[in-house]
Amino acid sequence: MAAVRGEFSSKFGFILAASGSAVGLGNIWGFPTQAASNGGAAFLLVYLILAFALAYPVLMAELIIGRHAKSNAVNALRLISNSKVSYLIGSITGFVGIITASLILSFYALVAGWMLSYILAPIAELLGQQWAADWLTDFGLYRNIIFLLIFMTLTVTIISGGVKDGIEKWSTRLMPALLGLLLLLIVYVLFQDGAMEGVKAYLLPDFSRVVDTKLIVSALGQAFFSLSLGVGTMLVYGSYISQKENLSYLGKMVTLVDIGIAVMAGMLIIPAMYVAQANGVQIFDAAGQLISEDTLIFTVLPALFDTMGTVGIFISFAFFVLMGIAALTSSISMLEVPVAYAVENHGIDRKRAAQVIGLVIATISVIIAFNFEALFGLTIRATTRFSQPVLGLMLCVFAGWIWHRNKMLEEIKQGYAEVESGFFWKIWPSYIRYFCPIAIIVVFAQRVLS
Ligand code: PHE
Repeated sequence: MAAVRGEFSSKFGFILAASGSAVGLGNIWGFPTQAASNGGAAFLLVYLILAFALAYPVLMAELIIGRHAKSNAVNALRLISNSKVSYLIGSITGFVGIITASLILSFYALVAGWMLSYILAPIAELLGQQWAADWLTDFGLYRNIIFLLIFMTLTVTIISGGVKDGIEKWSTRLMPALLGLLLLLIVYVLFQDGAMEGVKAYLLPDFSRVVDTKLIVSALGQAFFSLSLGVGTMLVYGSYISQKENLSYLGKMVTLVDIGIAVMAGMLIIPAMYVAQANGVQIFDAAGQLISEDTLIFTVLPALFDTMGTVGIFISFAFFVLMGIAALTSSISMLEVPVAYAVENHGIDRKRAAQVIGLVIATISVIIAFNFEALFGLTIRATTRFSQPVLGLMLCVFAGWIWHRNKMLEEIKQGYAEVESGFFWKIWPSYIRYFCPIAIIVVFAQRVLS
């Protein structure tokens, strides 16, 4: 019944897979648009602090618990529980994580589908098929459904391949491509007229905004979403790390890659907006705010590409391929959460599990597509603003209060024998016990109250 558990073949394989999960639409779309509407570099600064001070410690908790249990979140939290009550709470936390990951995937697939259709639009244009290009870029129900199904099929296919031949293989192919494309686009955009004004807006902080609670709340939400925290993704990926590896090093690398790519994406998107302005595209709304979110990606940037002539067609293609890759390496990590549970707890064959669960999630996506106005924003808010921080808090409680400290130490010592003399072990245990839960509660309360 129980299948042999997969394992990442190397440090490098894990780092690329986990940063593939972390680096997603959250980095390339979410981060720059939030920075654009929250005071540019002020947001960047707060984000950097919160990512290292709050998100990294929670990521470490997931990796350590996951590798120790060598199982999905439900089993892992049960394993480290110390009473009937904590066993029950652990089970609930694990299940809520599975549901949250699946719901995140249901809206993510819809958005990722738009990226796929925008990849094809410039090709249709090159072939002189303007009607097809228009259909691909118009917000239509059929287009939405067709492309979300294509995207889910890709996700299911990769996850069916397992840890080494699915997740790791595709992450190690796609992540270097993502980095290459991103660098290429940045260099191109920075040489256009108007770009420097964007660089200034992005890198010169408006310090008066740094203490703005709305900004802090958004930055924390962004950091948690971006590092794929709370829902059990990193815990499951952690469960596939070999006992030989140093977890504190791996966690640091993933955090650095995630933050680095977000910061680079800002260097692409914000200057691109100012280039668009220099080309006559409107980038401020009626209230004088920088246009952000979907209007930025699907209106401002395409308008910019249009002003660039034939080069614009290639740039547009490259940009949406970049978005598509970012989305795919993240979506596989979301699907892995319920699939790992189905395989490990119910003995279901991996391929079967991926197909059936993929179908259920695709059905939810289709329902969202049909009721877009009512359900899209609601699903995003419920999962990312509510569920993720609460789950993050529960993980801190398990790592800081429930799991026995010595057992945790034993686990980290594997692959890092001298951990006790390092900086990490001096700070992290009390940090995850006191600072992280309190900070999450404070920020969460702010969010609920406002
Ligand atoms: N980190 C991904 C992004 O930035 C989103 C994600 C959330 C992935 C939760 C997995 C789990 O887009």
